[in-house]
Parts: sequence; structure tokens; C-alpha cells
Amino acid sequence: MQAPETVRSVAELRARVAAWRQAGERVALVPTMGALHEGHLALVRAGRERAERVVVSIFVNPKQFAPNEDFEAYPRVADRDRAALVGLADVIFAPGVNDMYPPGFATEITVAGPSEGFEGAARPGHFAGVATVVAKLFTQCGPDYAIFGEKDWQQLQVVTRMARDLDLPLEVVPHPTVRDEAGLALSSRNAYLSPDEIATARKLNVILSRTAGELRARPVAEVLAKGRAELEALGFGPIDYLAVADPETLKPLDALEPGKPARLLVAARLGSVRLLDNVAV
Ligand code: PAF
Repeated sequence: MQAPETVRSVAELRARVAAWRQAGERVALVPTMGALHEGHLALVRAGRERAERVVVSIFVNPKQFAPNEDFEAYPRVADRDRAALVGLADVIFAPGVNDMYPPGFATEITVAGPSEGFEGAARPGHFAGVATVVAKLFTQCGPDYAIFGEKDWQQLQVVTRMARDLDLPLEVVPHPTVRDEAGLALSSRNAYLSPDEIATARKLNVILSRTAGELRARPVAEVLAKGRAELEALGFGPIDYLAVADPETLKPLDALEPGKPARLLVAARLGSVRLLDNVAV
């Protein structure tokens, strides 16, 4: 396959997708904000396994960043991203901010339920920004599949709920978190970590897995308090949450029912970086 073609307008994107459909081909969309790493490429490969054609959107979405967050500083490395997608993606959809949100843009999609708590509480407005741009990307591209990483577990549930609630005709496909050799969940923001911080960050998943393993044997509050103390002792802090929740509704659980799935989620700051991770319980 050749280098992916970069298209910037919705009309061009729709023309490509319409031609593929006419040829009987299925389409997978991988929404990203660029600064692609192996985690994103795994999503693209998962798209390829399901569909003949893959679109990767690259759009740093201002609506999901709070004024105090890193929107301006977020890495924008279009040439590197394009090179990483050679042989993997057919089209890169990279609209400008004014194309996505022209003057007068006034619509916001808010998803209650899974948006509440955790990231929704720590970052007010974040999931409305995500849901709004993802709904637009879905209608702009019209894919059969949209691939999302489990790393942002709550985002995955918000997007899945939205697609169901709005009867959007596509399947949201979850993909397991991609980790480095020490188990650290890959994230574009890991680039902000110093070598010392990376060594510490690599312990997050170890504590998370151990905590998850203990949760069904001992009282939830006791196990979470121990996990939190271990993280603090390593230098993580503040810890926004280390909590167990229903995997789909994200309702916090203070006790586990045998045989019923649950998700252990963490968000903790290490230096200037906020790390997120989650595992099944
Ligand atoms: O996960 C991300 O990179 C973003 O939240 C997404 C889904 C591309 C929406 O901007």
C-alpha cells in the first residue's frame, strides 16, 4: 500500500468513502489527536483486520481541553504521523479547527451516565468535547467500525453509549491497552516524563494489577487504601482516584458481587504528567 493521502475537507473524505462503498469495501475509522505511537498503530491494524479501508483522523480537538490544559503544547507532528501510517492507513483526515467548528458552531453533545465521575469530575466539559467531535467524525466519515483503545476506558464507554443512544450505524470496537515492555500504558503524554519518572510510572501498572488481584479477596475500601498508600510512597500525587466501577456505567462500586465484572481505574499525577490506567477486576 502507498503512503496515505491526507484530506482536509469533509467533502473530499465523503468522496473517498463513497467510492470505496461503491466497490463493496468496508471502512474503519481510527480517531486520534496525532503524535501517534505504537498504541495508535495497534488500533489502525485492528481496523485493517475488519475493513478493507482505514481512515485515521488527526485533529487536536480544542473542545476537550480546559483552558489550563495543554492544548497549545500538545505535540503536532504531521510528517512523522504520516510516515508511521505508510502501509497502514488509506486516508488521513486532518481538518482545520475552523472546518470542524466554523464561526457560529453551537452544538454540544453531552452524554450523562458514563461521563459522570472520574475524568468527568476531574476535567469538567472534557467528555462533552470528546462526544461532540467524535459524533462529528462519525457522521463525516460514515465508517462501519470505529476503533478506540481501552486505555481511556471511560472515553470508550462514553462513545459506545453515545453511538447506541443516537442509533449511529457503526460498531464501536474496543482494543486492549498497548503497554511497553514494563507494562506502562502507552500515551502521547508519556513524552513529557523524565527518565526517572518513567521508571516510577512503570510501577503504576504493577500496583494496579496487584490491587485488582486482591479486590475479590478483601474489603474494597481496605484494598484501595493500601494501593493508594503504595502509589503515594512511590511519589505519585495527587491521586485523583483509585476506584472500582461498573465497567459500562462507570458507577463506583464499594463492594463486588461474585461473577459480576468490574473495572479498577486510576488517575494520578507524576511530576507534570497525569497518568491514567485501568484493568479488569
Ligand atoms: O482519545 C483521543 O485521542 C481523543 O479523545 C479522540 C477520541 C481522538 C477525540 O478527540
